[in-house]
Amino acid sequence: MIIAILGGTGNIGKGFALRWGQKHEIIIGSRDLKKAEAVAAEYNEVLEKYGHKRCITGTDNRTAAEKAEIVVIAIRYNQLAPVMELIYPVIENKLIISVVVPMEKNMCYISPGSNYPRTLIESKEFNTQYFCFSIPEAGSAAQEIFTMIPESTELVAAFHSVPAKKLANLDMELDYDIGVCGNSMHSKEIVFDLVRNISNMRPLDIGPLETAGMVESLTPLLINVAARNEMKDVSLKFV
Ligand SMILES: NC(=O)c1ccc[n+]([C@@H]2O[C@H](COP(=O)([O-])OP(=O)(O)OC[C@H]3O[C@@H](n4cnc5c(N)ncnc54)[C@H](OP(=O)(O)O)[C@@H]3O)[C@@H](O)[C@H]2O)c1
Repeated sequence: MIIAILGGTGNIGKGFALRWGQKHEIIIGSRDLKKAEAVAAEYNEVLEKYGHKRCITGTDNRTAAEKAEIVVIAIRYNQLAPVMELIYPVIENKLIISVVVPMEKNMCYISPGSNYPRTLIESKEFNTQYFCFSIPEAGSAAQEIFTMIPESTELVAAFHSVPAKKLANLDMELDYDIGVCGNSMHSKEIVFDLVRNISNMRPLDIGPLETAGMVESLTPLLINVAARNEMKDVSLKFV
């Protein structure tokens, strides 16, 4: 299959390119053609080192989407609108995969009348920062993306809980469960196979696109768990 990864020059895009590049043709999309070409060359070096064919090319986001059968949206939530507008004319009848998680860093508000001693509030130990799911009006990033694609285009949301660093490390077996949300069983099955293409990953059907918010909201939880418990790159496994 031909898979375009928009924002493929970034953290999570690298891992997808290196994992799927072992079985599929990958096109890295970027706002900057030269950057995409340079990054594609760098990823090809890694593939070659691991005994795989060089099968990654780089181009601008729109051309990447136009050339591909599957288009992965691997950019941040607040950057979605212009990119979706740019690719709208070239994604008829294609499958879009959203890995987008709308989240932000928050800090608890401590009211002036709280019982916490000031010395504690001002100490480094009093860490009130945390990540939270910033719920889009549509309910999830995926449902918002659904409003930005043509009727003939399929959309599946998946891979939200995969840590980028581990995905890009080809020495690592990833024994994770991947929640997959979407309205078309046919499209979900294509994504199930893409999940199975990555070492030990197991796809789990979560439900229609309306369930995407539940899955997206797990990522800030995982990051909080990692940050507060000296764990690195935490993911999910249902047992
Ligand atoms: N990082 C993770 O572990 C992880 C895991 C699961 C899901 N996700 C989701 O995957 C998405 C990408 O995350 P990431 O950490 O890979 O992001 P990132 O590295 O910060 O950015 C990805 C790419 O977005 C492009 N970009 C930057 N600013 C942009 C703008 N204003 N408009 C359009 N494109 C822009 C850049 O590519 P160019 O400069 O080449 O255009 C960049 O390489 C997010 O929605 C995130 O929630 C991330």
